[in-house]
Amino acid sequence: MLIKVMRGWELPENCASPEGFSLGRRALLATALATTALPSFAHAGEKYAAGRDITPEKNATTYNNYYEFSTDKDLWQEAQALKMDPWSISFTGAVEKEQTLSLSELLRQVTLEDRVYRHRCVEAWSMVVPWTGFPMAKLVALAAPLSSAKYVAFTTLADKKTMPGLRMPFYPWPYVDSVTMAEAMNDLAFIPTGMYGRSLPPQNGGPIRIHLPWKYGFKSVKSIIKVSFLEKRPIGMWEQLQASEYGFWANVNPAVSHPRWSQASERDIGTGKRIPTQLYNGYGEFVAGLYADMPGEKLYM
Ligand code: MTE
Repeated sequence: MLIKVMRGWELPENCASPEGFSLGRRALLATALATTALPSFAHAGEKYAAGRDITPEKNATTYNNYYEFSTDKDLWQEAQALKMDPWSISFTGAVEKEQTLSLSELLRQVTLEDRVYRHRCVEAWSMVVPWTGFPMAKLVALAAPLSSAKYVAFTTLADKKTMPGLRMPFYPWPYVDSVTMAEAMNDLAFIPTGMYGRSLPPQNGGPIRIHLPWKYGFKSVKSIIKVSFLEKRPIGMWEQLQASEYGFWANVNPAVSHPRWSQASERDIGTGKRIPTQLYNGYGEFVAGLYADMPGEKLYM
């Protein structure tokens, strides 16, 4: 991985992607204090205790889903073709003013924090990852949505030159998925820019992705280039492809099977052990309230 030596005037993309862990976090913080343009760090501590061992970095970064590159789990080498610098994100739809921000411009306006989250894929494997990033609520605030906005959709880069998976014609690219505004504002909804103290690698959705730990992993869109505020509920890529199996809500629930397999347990990709799956992936106390009084909604697919 490239470790950039920063010149005084340069914006610190490596802060977002906290090389600080490897360079020595204290040193990084000292630099941050000396340079006003740097984003600041805040330690969230154990606000959302994972309750399980952190998955070894090697497992979490070499066993991935990123269909734009390949449907194989060992796509990490192919994913290195992803060009993550320069990177920008556009904010579109029901916002006060549509705008495009470079990643550096965005990161200058947020405070980074560390969070250890469980991640549960709809395919019944899971991991525990130490992310660095910022709350999705902060991204929403920066976008200044209009009161008519009810949903936020996230779109992945679709670059035919570097992503061979885009040649699979039956997938309705680009990869897109969305949440309600209330979900986006929930403190658990997170925007990682780093993991294991390093930049977010391409295979895990670098340079910036979303993570919604109480939902099946397919909702956690990687390598985002567009954030759209919408009045009507959009249809995500998986829902468009197979609505009978993948819905809008996709909240983790061990009692509701996927049409083709049970969701009662999951395989931890760090230990290889099978463990029971928890309702809302164990985050019910923080998110269950979002789904009170929603008769008729398929909340768990
Ligand atoms: N985002 C994009 N753009 N393409 C994908 O194929 N796969 C999803 C999600 N986000 C996917 C994606 C699925 S199914 C899962 S489980 C997680 O990314 C996997 O994230 P990880 O590779 O960091 O574990």
